[in-house]
Amino acid sequence: MIDKVFSIFLLTSLLVFITACGSSNNQTSDESTKQSTGRSLYISKCTSCHKAYDRELHTPDEWEKILNEMGKKAKLRADEKENILKYLSERNLN
Ligand code: HEC
Repeated sequence: MIDKVFSIFLLTSLLVFITACGSSNNQTSDESTKQSTGRSLYISKCTSCHKAYDRELHTPDEWEKILNEMGKKAKLRADEKENILKYLSERNLN
């Protein structure tokens, strides 16, 4: 009797464990993480002096030039610049 109760308990906890692992694995893809990083970096680094300009305003090439200038003002690291440029270049895609 004890054995049966115990094995049911074991099975249940095993199931809970598996379900918990499964759901935490497919929460966010790498792409959407990158995008939200680029966006939040843009908002946090680029809006201290002016508003967040709409990314529709410029082509990716223009954004690259702008970021070369503004990146100095905002003291961006290379990887931050990359992330922001990626976010700004993904216009019309969503
Ligand atoms: C230290 C202040 C400062 C920071 C930080 C800053 N900017 Fe600027 N930005 C300015 C000033 C001042 C101007 C307008 C005068 C000029 O062009 O230099 C400007 C102009 C711009 C323009 C031109 C707008 C137009 O219509 O021509 C864009 C686009 C822009 N910034 C984007 C950015 C981005 C992207 C970032 C983040 C990487 C950023 N800025 C961070 C000060 C800043």
